[in-house]
Amino acid sequence: MSASPTIPLSARPIAGLLGAELPEIDLSEPLTAEVVAQIKATLTEYGVVVFPRQDIGPAEHVALARALGEIKFPPDYFPETLRDSGFPEVSVISTQNELAYLTDRWHADVTWMPNPPRYSILHMQQLPPAGGDTMWSSQYAAYDWLSEPMKQFLEPLTVRHQLPGSPDHASDHPVVCRNPVSGRKALFINKVFSMRINELSEAESDAVLAFLVSHSVQPEFVCRWRWTDGDVAIWDNHYVQHYAIADYRPHPRKIHRIEIVGEPPVAASS
Ligand code: SIN
Repeated sequence: MSASPTIPLSARPIAGLLGAELPEIDLSEPLTAEVVAQIKATLTEYGVVVFPRQDIGPAEHVALARALGEIKFPPDYFPETLRDSGFPEVSVISTQNELAYLTDRWHADVTWMPNPPRYSILHMQQLPPAGGDTMWSSQYAAYDWLSEPMKQFLEPLTVRHQLPGSPDHASDHPVVCRNPVSGRKALFINKVFSMRINELSEAESDAVLAFLVSHSVQPEFVCRWRWTDGDVAIWDNHYVQHYAIADYRPHPRKIHRIEIVGEPPVAASS
């Protein structure tokens, strides 16, 4: 990854190919335009940004989200939010409401939507005594590490993303998308929602998707975060997959999440 002048010098990579800590940003302070530009630049470069040990509440979580874009409110049917405390933007993902047991698989969030959320912002609330780490996988790296003939084969293709068992909740997206800011190309498939490559036969699509699903999360592309109390993490849902490791049963774990509205992913071939 190349250096960029707006990434703070204190940024500390978490792994070789994605993820950075920003240990010197205090999210309890008002967010200046310069700090917001630094956060955005670090996200563009590293895909995942972590702010360790933040002493903040939902109001500062919401302020950070607003600085990054338009907030995507959880739907009314979402099992738990902070609506009653005045923060309907904030979803709660916990062992108590059992949503924590739905995130222990590689995926990007709701890619069956025409415009899947762009950023997710987590704020750790309750940690198990050990475990409960989160992993992210760089889909830029997943694309970069493909052979040239494979890149050329995949670039014109589109893939049907669908909410499993719900054909009405589906969208077509490019298999390879491009970050309009950096120009970098990335794979845009995941095991949970990517059902069928439209231009291929069913057997061909099954084989290609099986390869891409396993290739896209190989250890070289992954960073893993061991949470401490108050940590805040943001990832770019268009270019990163994630996996919350559920290795802490029967202990509780609770996290707050806000999502930011995304544009439809841009085809690399466009
Ligand atoms: C999520 O998948 O949005 C939650 C990830 C986590 O709990 O670490």
